[in-house]
Amino acid sequence: MLIIKTVDELKDVLFRVKSSGKIVGFVPTMGALHAGHLSLLEKAKSENNVLVCSIFVNPIQFNNKQDLEKYPRNVEKDINYIEDLVDILFLPSEEEVFPSAPTEKFDFGKLESVLEGKYRPGHFNGVATIVKRLFDWIKPEKAYFGEKDYQQLVIIRELVRQFNLPVQIVACPTVREPGGLAISSRNARLSPEEYKIAPCIYQILLSLPPKTTLSVSELKQYAISEIEKIKEFKLEYLEIVNAKTLQPITNFDDAEKVICCVALYLGEVRLIDNIFLKK
Ligand code: PAF
Repeated sequence: MLIIKTVDELKDVLFRVKSSGKIVGFVPTMGALHAGHLSLLEKAKSENNVLVCSIFVNPIQFNNKQDLEKYPRNVEKDINYIEDLVDILFLPSEEEVFPSAPTEKFDFGKLESVLEGKYRPGHFNGVATIVKRLFDWIKPEKAYFGEKDYQQLVIIRELVRQFNLPVQIVACPTVREPGGLAISSRNARLSPEEYKIAPCIYQILLSLPPKTTLSVSELKQYAISEIEKIKEFKLEYLEIVNAKTLQPITNFDDAEKVICCVALYLGEVRLIDNIFLKK
């Protein structure tokens, strides 16, 4: 695995790679790599000739300073974890990515005013800023994103559409622990007790698809009441939305695909998850 720290070297190496006709797949990450990242990397590896991974904890997508400070970082461990799989690891410093304060302003309309966007102002502008820069430097044929961050996936697709970027976005299913907890870098911050409770999120989500005979508002109420039964959970939002527009629906017939998205706090850790109710 070649480790590259500067944009100039990255562009240089990739220019030679592409000139030899090789297809480049890309997985952007913020490190603290886990089985979820591994599944993205393995899929990318199987579909491309050269696999590029980036590790960069992007400060401008954290709306909460504490969350940024506490974000797990362990680059040595990450390198060991992926060195047999990845061809090029892009590991830039903050100065390399943002030599001056970034000024990009994106407009994703209603896609960003709901769900995560409503509770994390500026988050998706920060995500779009880094992803667009990485796409511009790497110019991958395909880039891979997990469905766990479902709104991020929808917004990245919109970014690609708005700027007509020549990259195919590949969505990968959420990887879960045996009990159902969606794997996330933030899980490392759960206490052993919280860790035992956390899988209840997915157990509750799993109970929803068989109940889609209820109305949307009844189902939403049912899901919220199940979450509120667990006193350790502090619900931030639970929404049943059109999976394409991310706007709340009134009837299941209102959308071709319907997804239920949830965000809650367990202790100090913010967890998100989702389940398709109609796909
Ligand atoms: O999903 C993530 O890990 C980040 O939001 C991403 C896409 C790497 C951008 O910093």
